[in-house]
Amino acid sequence: MQHILSASQFDAKQLNKFLKHTDVIRKAFETNRHKLAASHADTTVATLFYEPSTRTRLSFESAASKLGAGVISTENAGEYSSAAKGETLEDTIRTVSCYVDAIIIRHKETGAADRAAAVSSVPIINAGDGKGEHPTQGLLDMYTIWKEKGRLENLHVIIGGDLKHGRTVRTLARMLSLYKGNTLTFVSTPALAMGSDITDHLTQAGTAYTETDDLYAALPKADVVYWTRLQKERLTDASLESEFVIDQAALQLMKPDATIMHPLPRVGEIAESVDDDPRAAYFRQVKNGLFVRMALLDTLLT
Ligand code: NCD
Repeated sequence: MQHILSASQFDAKQLNKFLKHTDVIRKAFETNRHKLAASHADTTVATLFYEPSTRTRLSFESAASKLGAGVISTENAGEYSSAAKGETLEDTIRTVSCYVDAIIIRHKETGAADRAAAVSSVPIINAGDGKGEHPTQGLLDMYTIWKEKGRLENLHVIIGGDLKHGRTVRTLARMLSLYKGNTLTFVSTPALAMGSDITDHLTQAGTAYTETDDLYAALPKADVVYWTRLQKERLTDASLESEFVIDQAALQLMKPDATIMHPLPRVGEIAESVDDDPRAAYFRQVKNGLFVRMALLDTLLT
């Protein structure tokens, strides 16, 4: 049995294999979606979400149904499951794993997916655990970079916004460190800087990185600009602001073939006027998420 819990469980070879499998599934969907829809017709997955979600939950549920798998779901598990009566996460997982072939879980506590995996009799997919990681977002981000740039190495990637409380940026930095020659520039205010566990990991992995609050100085060098929102729900200091906006002035400074990404939701940090620029890849990224999650479920349910 295989759980998907963290970027650290992958090496470059496994990641490359998975990204190629995503292409296979995408092609199968585009050429013969009826056959694909029969491929896992005897299975069921559960989505157990203790935190809000639009893309992650709905893309997993859409992915499952496109593979023929049934879906059972608790979209507000903290309120609508027995957690509201005081049941432990462990007992909930022991129960749900009696009903399904895989559990996709999002939780506000870091480490919750690991706790779930420790007691589950079916694969657990971490769909975001607090300030920890978001491995399936990482996979779709890497797939998107591969599709947009044609490679995953020798890239200069800006990762910016709320790096302290965001989980997608932590997973992405780890995954990029699996490939040679990548340079990461973390752009944030000092109060929202990337955690030292990640920067220590980059040092160990031999991945070059710098930290700055000068977005405009960083932009001209970047092949990929990955931006994130301020994670208001995780702030202990409510007065913190992210300060940066990717707008027309920022676009002017970027390479003509740069790629702009964002895990979404955005709440003002990428101006809507950027959307029409061919470099804006965030809605292509959303679409890629569906195929990545189909490929993931296909792998785990087979
Ligand atoms: C991200 C998350 O939940 O961490 N959203 C997503 O899954 N696409 C990013 C965010 O909420 O800011």
